[in-house]
Amino acid sequence: HSKMVKICCIGAGYVGGPTMAVIALKCPDIQVAVVDISVPRITAWNSDTLPIYEPGLDDVVKQCRGKNLFFSTEVEKHVCEADIVFVSVNTPTKTRGLGAGKAADLTYWESAARMIADVSKSDKIVVEKSTVPVKTAEAIEKILTHNSKGINFQILSNPEFLAEGTAVQDLFHPDRVLIGGRETPGGEKAIATLKSVYAHWVPDHNIITTNLWSAELSKLAANAFLAQRISSVNAMSALCEATGANVNQVAYAVGKDTRIGPKFLNASVGFGGSCFQKDILNLVYICECNGLPEVAEYWKQVIKINDYQKSRFVNRVVASMFNTVSNKKIAILGFAFKKDTGDTRETPAIDVCKGLLGDKACVSIYDPQVTEDQIQRDLTLNKFDWDHPIHLQPMSPTAVKQVTVVWDAYEATKDAHAVCILTEWDEFKNLDYKRIYDGMQKPAFIFDGRNVVDLEKVREIGFICYSIGKPLDAWLKDMPAVA
Ligand code: NAD
Ligand code: UDX
Repeated sequence: HSKMVKICCIGAGYVGGPTMAVIALKCPDIQVAVVDISVPRITAWNSDTLPIYEPGLDDVVKQCRGKNLFFSTEVEKHVCEADIVFVSVNTPTKTRGLGAGKAADLTYWESAARMIADVSKSDKIVVEKSTVPVKTAEAIEKILTHNSKGINFQILSNPEFLAEGTAVQDLFHPDRVLIGGRETPGGEKAIATLKSVYAHWVPDHNIITTNLWSAELSKLAANAFLAQRISSVNAMSALCEATGANVNQVAYAVGKDTRIGPKFLNASVGFGGSCFQKDILNLVYICECNGLPEVAEYWKQVIKINDYQKSRFVNRVVASMFNTVSNKKIAILGFAFKKDTGDTRETPAIDVCKGLLGDKACVSIYDPQVTEDQIQRDLTLNKFDWDHPIHLQPMSPTAVKQVTVVWDAYEATKDAHAVCILTEWDEFKNLDYKRIYDGMQKPAFIFDGRNVVDLEKVREIGFICYSIGKPLDAWLKDMPAVA
């Protein structure tokens, strides 16, 4: 009778929290501890208000917390006791020094690895859960094996593919689980051990095992391919507006080809989130380091089109409103980077709001899941600073005065000249647009960055409405935006 397997996960964030909660739920025979250096985060995980909003997560946590799932700040104790240590710390883009603006900052990862080496008294499997540059495992291995304590560490790469907003469902039914390890007897044994954890609920044919480098690179590749699809459809959206084609119709026709497939072809104001841009920049940097500038250039374009899409949107707003938004109230509906999350990391709303504020607009923001504090912080932080732990961020940023945050869409739009829809929250589909129109300045504009409104309906109400990639009305045609 073997002893109960113990898992410890370093990093109680968007990935560590939900992933470990689902492992605990599906594996009652395994004890799971999630540890973090952030005291407020751990306190929140142990409270009724979890630190992240994710449909279905409360339920999973409630079922296991205190039984075989624990959240703790006693990092060293739990690492020491564990058989398997997941590392799911943040891996931001470097802001200074070699590779600034591109390379992954492995400071948090390295300090976690050194701590594991220091406190361990027994053999362990160390799992890379964070997204890291290819070949990181080699560096981690060096840190861990130079311990001269005779402890055996096996490094595995087990990247996470969950998307926010659907994390619990993605974890319950993953398209695949990817485990990379050394092609040695010790490596293979470690792979088998981790596989047996996932085998509690994931069918065998959905668990892929590879060498370490393939696993690390597959994660960057998958995110690059996904982001590329969005930039492709967004590039088409600009051409649709110029020609009178409708991007929804084009995307539907294209996606009907079974080789292309229908998913992830929604034109938008741009992709956001903590992963796509960071991971592509990381990929670009790795290509450059490996003497592949053409490959690096190729992937850079995905980000360039995304930046273009965001500035094109701002230009459209300003140009349509007589080339000035100075002192005009503009309502922003949605601030999160996608619906069903409170996460604002790299959300296109930050760039759009900063663009409008640069043109002296007054913005009134409503998002059902994002707090005023968060929005103010996002609008004052520098590029790339968001991915550093909260305790390293300015505690009380000087509030941006032209920004107000409200808790109701009607309040946000009252007396406004324009409405910008930046997140596809379901509730924005069913707003009373007649009521909104009546409360606004005239002419009243809607700029729909997510294709949520019924164009025909709102135009009939009287709005001048721009929707990404849709045929323009006469007003918009007469007020062309310069790129
Ligand atoms: P996050 O910032 O939400 O969480 C990271 C946590 O690690 C923070 O709470 C931080 O306090 C903690 N931490 C940092 N250093 C620590 C240390 N030395 N000891 C203990 N705790 C420490 O980040 P996240 O969104 O969960 O992402 C984590 C990793 O997973 C990243 O590499 C990311 O690229 C990757 N990833 C994210 C997603 C996603 O949807 N967010 C999806 C797949 C992969
Ligand atoms: C992504 C990957 O999907 C996931 O596999 C990986 O583990 C982490 O990165 P996430 O960033 O949470 O997940 O959300 P995702 O659904 O991929 O959306 C990313 C951004 O792209 C959002 O801003 C979303 O609005 C945008 N998007 C998505 C589009 O603009 N159009 C689409 O068709 C799909």
